[in-house]
Amino acid sequence: MADEIKVGLLLPYSGVYAALGGEIEAGFNLGLATFGAQTDDTFVVVTEDTEVKPPVGLAKAKKLALQDKADVIVGVVSSGVLGALRDFVDGAGVPLIVANAGNDAATGEDCSPFITRFSFSNSQVNRPMGQYLVDQGITKVFTMAPDYAAGHQQIGAFKAAFEAAGGEVVGQEFTPFQKTQDFGPYLANAKSSDAQAVYVFYAGGEAISYVKQYDSFGLKENLPLFGSGFLTSSLYVNAEGPAAEGVIASSYYVPTIDNPENAAFVEAYKAANNRLPSEFAVAGYDAAHALVLASANGASDRASLAKALSTSSFDGPRGATSIDPATNNIVQPIYVYETVSAADGSGMTQKVLASLAPEQDPVNGCTLAN
Ligand code: PHB
Repeated sequence: MADEIKVGLLLPYSGVYAALGGEIEAGFNLGLATFGAQTDDTFVVVTEDTEVKPPVGLAKAKKLALQDKADVIVGVVSSGVLGALRDFVDGAGVPLIVANAGNDAATGEDCSPFITRFSFSNSQVNRPMGQYLVDQGITKVFTMAPDYAAGHQQIGAFKAAFEAAGGEVVGQEFTPFQKTQDFGPYLANAKSSDAQAVYVFYAGGEAISYVKQYDSFGLKENLPLFGSGFLTSSLYVNAEGPAAEGVIASSYYVPTIDNPENAAFVEAYKAANNRLPSEFAVAGYDAAHALVLASANGASDRASLAKALSTSSFDGPRGATSIDPATNNIVQPIYVYETVSAADGSGMTQKVLASLAPEQDPVNGCTLAN
């Protein structure tokens, strides 16, 4: 048997991203079961709740690394929490597999040999949508997002690409993160602007409220809604219901992607969890896949795991997936999808409109390759 590897799962189990934490954990457990079938006893998992709060996330990372002596930490959903942990994991030399948080800096100017990201970067998911919207004849857009790192980075990347393609952002709102219940005043500003469409980043509980209020405000007809794919994630699109119909968004994963690895993943995930997987589940699943591969190649302590993780490459449910050694960020295809009603009446589903080429971030100040 391979040496034991202690994994600290550091996720939100409370707060607006609680459902995302549970989903990443379900994907991670399925990944260990699927790929680690021969080495089941190798991985010992301890979980901690970040509560989506940067200081709590940092304290829990310290607990996992120093008290539990985790060999690797997997998780972190919020870009704010990732920013708070960065110096600790880098200084302590504990590998962190980022299984969601898109914070660009963590694989850019603040990159580390101990941080590898198997989810996405905030700019990676949104950058392709700039040209995509212009190609659809949309040149004036109003943007909205929660007022924290991920909101600013996701919208910033979209805006830069949209302007480079000839578009204009005619108005922007950043709404108080985790505190906004009523989007009405912000939606009124979008309505009175001369935008042709609205482009947003919202996720988790905030995405559900936003999509429902957008529809009940009567905006969808005249002001089509676009965004990064978290807006209408398969994790909660059925809580949004018909309000999500027609929303067009970009993501690295939807359960309707057509490839053999995804067909196997969807079937196994449904059997284990009685629901379709989402982009959050796939990040947990692929993180487990990478860890099992690293362990099979002989890695078991912090340094050897960090090294092995940064050279990961495999075909997974999202397509060809690899880690860019120049940044330790993932390189992966991006999919543009529309939320539509399933023909069989089972609820909302994702119609893939475009499969875009693998998206690789620029190094953004990361010096890993030097
Ligand atoms: C982030 O904070 O980086 C974040 C959170 C939830 C998402 C995407 C990004 O769905």
